Amino acid sequence: MALPLTVSISNKWSRKKRHFPLLAVFFLVLLACSFIYIEFSIQQIHQSPDHVLHSQRQTSSFTYVKPNLPKGASDVLDGSSSCNSTRNYSGKKIRWVGKDAESNQRRSISQENSCDVFSGKWVFDNQSYPLYKESDCPYMSDQLACHKHGRSDLQYQHWRWQPHNCNLKRWDATEMWEKLRGKRLMFVGDSLNRGQWISMVCLLQSVIPANKRSMTPNAQLTIFRAEEYNATVEFLWAPLLVESNSDDPVNHRLSERIIRPDSVLKHSAQWEHADILVFNSYLWWRQGPVKLQWSGEENGACEELDGLGAMELAMGAWADWIASKVIPLKKHVFFVTMSPTHFWKGEWEAGSKGNCYNETRPIDREGHWGSGSDLATMRMVDKMVSGLGSKVTVINITQLSEYRKDGHPSIYRKFWETLSPQQLGNPASYSDCIHWCLPGVPDVWNELLFHFL
Ligand SMILES: *[C@@H]1O[C@H](CO)[C@@H](O)[C@H](O)[C@H]1NC(C)=O
Ligand SMILES: *[C@@H]1O[C@H](CO)[C@@H](O)[C@H](O)[C@H]1NC(C)=O
Ligand SMILES: *[C@@H]1O[C@H](CO)[C@@H](O)[C@H](O)[C@H]1NC(C)=O
Ligand SMILES: *[C@@H]1O[C@H](CO)[C@@H](O)[C@H](O)[C@H]1NC(C)=O
Ligand SMILES: *[C@@H]1O[C@H](CO)[C@@H](O)[C@H](O)[C@H]1NC(C)=O
Ligand SMILES: *[C@@H]1O[C@H](CO)[C@@H](O)[C@H](O)[C@H]1NC(C)=O
Repeated sequence: MALPLTVSISNKWSRKKRHFPLLAVFFLVLLACSFIYIEFSIQQIHQSPDHVLHSQRQTSSFTYVKPNLPKGASDVLDGSSSCNSTRNYSGKKIRWVGKDAESNQRRSISQENSCDVFSGKWVFDNQSYPLYKESDCPYMSDQLACHKHGRSDLQYQHWRWQPHNCNLKRWDATEMWEKLRGKRLMFVGDSLNRGQWISMVCLLQSVIPANKRSMTPNAQLTIFRAEEYNATVEFLWAPLLVESNSDDPVNHRLSERIIRPDSVLKHSAQWEHADILVFNSYLWWRQGPVKLQWSGEENGACEELDGLGAMELAMGAWADWIASKVIPLKKHVFFVTMSPTHFWKGEWEAGSKGNCYNETRPIDREGHWGSGSDLATMRMVDKMVSGLGSKVTVINITQLSEYRKDGHPSIYRKFWETLSPQQLGNPASYSDCIHWCLPGVPDVWNELLFHFL
């Protein structure tokens, strides 16, 4: 039996919304049972003025640390790890070397194809969508099966992403399997990435006879296998990319987040032999300060840093691994940008209260951007992947998913805790406006992946 993770997401992005009162307290109670995974439980959504977050990082000098150095027999972080002491962030930074000569032309999807497939609009298309039926996918998750859990408006399944200046390649499961023949495709990240992995498995499984495919039991690494293609589609639970105390796929409800900011080695040992890697990381950094336990630290002493600063360190350790280990012709690496949340209805309908609950249509206004997508994080990711040149392809899902306020499970999913009469009386209070119904938005993320493979 596992416990839910508690996340409070700082709504720190938008200055202009500073007048937004400390509106409401959302409870999204997600209980992880034997085969569920990462969950975000929104306890409190509040404004964190930028200056508070940044002050923690004001340090006059930096020390640079080389990440991913093999450690001796020192222990590995897990759910029972703790900090013996906590001091302010020392200012240590990750030193990694990117931008080798050949990589200057970043494999930026948009430039390569002279069409920005991430810029476009949603078009209602009930002829070709959904790409599979919810009930036909034996690997569907009860947290994402919205129809099964009572959602009766099904338009959310019927939207096609239409880039402005070109068409997306049409999804073709057999063609995708041919690309995967003899290969390992691995998704690495948090529950959003897990949703994308389930979407991919659902998209792919129908063309494989039941006795020629298999799924391993839920674990940190879960593997879907198709015999005749000698191919696997895998998911590795690593919500913070680097080694952390939250690496158990089921039991990660902990009062504090502790990371090893200078090491991805624990996870890279599992992902290094994959041929195609799809990473994400974002929401777990939005829960407030993070404890850092550097590899060289002998006595369990920690430093504390705000989420964005900690994410930058983790991305640095990740980038170091990519820069030193990835040969673009041999391994294809993708990074999926932040998945938006829809907790503030006032952002798309001025003056109204509520969240994604009861939303049945996408947002029409082109360029809409909500406070769930942090611009400072986006800039940091942008800078990081630019430094990796052609070694990483960005799947920039943020803008297109921003439009899909209708795509979240809200109340139509399995909740692992009994809901109180009070909650039931106010459905918005426990709505899941983070994850995405399937079939739905993550299918399009996978079509984009297919487009670039
Ligand atoms: C950490 O820094 C803040 C200001 O930057 C200071 O107020 C606080 O006392 C420091 N805490 C410790 C434990 O040094
Ligand atoms: C598709 O949508 C149109 C317009 O909403 C509707 O008239 C039609 O019956 C739908 N077709 C299917 C197959 O659901
Ligand atoms: C299956 O794929 C793996 C790589 O994932 C490869 O090492 C192995 O040789 C392949 N086996 C066959 C029979 O092709
Ligand atoms: C914490 O400190 C105690 C006493 O100083 C020490 O015995 C223990 O090993 C330390 N814990 C870790 C994880 O290093
Ligand atoms: C849900 O939306 C419908 C139509 O937009 C509206 O009539 C209804 O009052 C809404 N329900 C709640 C609980 O907000
Ligand atoms: C993703 O797209 C947005 C525009 O929608 C852009 O501002 C951002 O820089 C892009 N991010 C990356 C990492 O390419």
